[in-house]
Parts: sequence; C-alpha cells; structure tokens
Amino acid sequence: LRPYTIIFSTMTVDGRIASSSGESLLSCREDFVFQHRLRAMVDLVMVGSGTVLADNPRLTVRLVPGRSPLRGVVDSRLRVPPEARIFDGGRGVLVTVEGHPPGRLEPYRRRGVRVVEAGRGRVDLAGAWRLLAEELGVRRVMVEGGGRLNGALLREGLVDELIVTVAPFAYGAGTSLLEADLGGRSVLALDRVERVCGGWARLYYRVVEPRRPLG
Ligand SMILES: NC(=O)c1ccc[n+]([C@@H]2O[C@H](COP(=O)([O-])OP(=O)(O)OC[C@H]3O[C@@H](n4cnc5c(N)ncnc54)[C@H](OP(=O)(O)O)[C@@H]3O)[C@@H](O)[C@H]2O)c1
Repeated sequence: LRPYTIIFSTMTVDGRIASSSGESLLSCREDFVFQHRLRAMVDLVMVGSGTVLADNPRLTVRLVPGRSPLRGVVDSRLRVPPEARIFDGGRGVLVTVEGHPPGRLEPYRRRGVRVVEAGRGRVDLAGAWRLLAEELGVRRVMVEGGGRLNGALLREGLVDELIVTVAPFAYGAGTSLLEADLGGRSVLALDRVERVCGGWARLYYRVVEPRRPLG
C-alpha cells in the first residue's frame, strides 16, 4: 500500500525551479490559486529539506476555501528546525531515518509533529510512503519539490502524476525539476495542456514508468 502521488511544480522553459542564486518566484496569481486548490484536495503536502531550508514555506491553503492538509518534510539529518513554518498548527509530518536518539525528536513531537522513520543513513522513500499510508492513513500526496525529492521519488516509481506549469522565463542554470539520474528514461503520457494567465502553460502528465503498483 502507498499513497497516490502527484508532483506539482512551476518551472522555467529550461526546466528549472530555482535559479543558481536561489530565486524561485515563477508563479502568476492563477497558478498560486491552482496550487492552493490542489493542496485542499490531498491529505498531505510534502517537500524536501532543501526547500524548507531555502524558502521556509507554510504549505497551507489560503487562497481558496478548504482545509489545509498535513504538511511534511523529508529530512534524514534533522536539518530542518522544529520552529519551521510547515510545523505550525500541529499538522506537521517529519519523515526521517531510524535511529535518531529520542531526545532529538522530542522538540518536534512537542510541536505536534508526527514522526515517520524509514531507512538508515538516508530516508527510504518507498518504505516511508508505505508508512504514510499505513500509520497516518494518507491516501493522496502532493509533492512540491524541490528537484532532489522530485527526482528521487520518480526514480523509485512512487509518482503517479506530474503537473507542471511552464512560466515564460529562463534561468539557464540552477535547480532542475528533476535533480536525479533516472538511470534510463522515465515515460510519461500527456493528458492535457492548458493556458494559464496568458504566458504560462500547464501540462498534466501521467507517469507510465517507472511506477510501482498502489496496492
Ligand atoms: N519553483 C518551484 O515550484 C519550486 C518548488 C519547490 C522548491 N523549489 C526550489 O528548489 C530548491 C530546493 O531543491 P533541492 O533539490 O535543493 O532540495 P529538496 O528536493 O527540497 O530537498 C532535498 C533533500 O531532501 C533530503 N532527502 C532525504 N531523503 C532523501 C531521498 N531518499 N532522496 C532525495 N532527497 C532526500 C536530502 O537531504 P538529507 O540527505 O539531509 O535528508 C536532500 O538534500 C530551492 O531553491 C527551492 O526554492 C522551487
């Protein structure tokens, strides 16, 4: 059992989600509204530790009516502090490795953060995804980056859909949508293309392979 997983990202025409100096403001107003609507439809929004350390996002639903989902971060080394904004409101999830001393996890737990432990050294994403379904009852996950987490999840066959908004900008360098060697090619099927706020376009893909069964 694993949750149905959607990657959503806004990228430049050259496939970057952040510039080499860390700038990543790529969305137009309608794109932000779409992002919040998608958040309201899932049980959990997940990001990598790099994104929290770079942007300290809230990941809540604010621009549309709806309940904010659980908000999680994949962080093997506990680099994300318990004070991070994704843990505000007692709906945070920390996905990390097994074996941290209980005392190091205590400040997160005191903030109401649910801790999921999978793997040694580095988070075992397939194991973690199974635990999210089994222990927290998570059925749908929206992944909002960054490039390393996106790439690793796709490589592991844990992604079902990829929704990307292409912004009319280019960086020419920086963080890519998928920062991982996929060891071959990943095959996607294009379901739909739509124009967003003039110069922006949104593409909806289903992942064909690699993809692990859901059940
Ligand atoms: N434009 C957009 O839509 C958008 C969206 C999100 C982010 N961004 C940008 O993307 C940048 C961050 O991206 P990033 O690629 O550097 O970081 P990231 O994907 O957010 O986080 C990567 C980190 O996750 C941790 N991790 C734990 N287990 C992992 C595993 N099994 N596989 C892969 N990672 C694992 C690793 O740190 P440990 O080894 O310490 O655990 C890794 O360094 C920021 O500049 C942000 O602004 C842009």
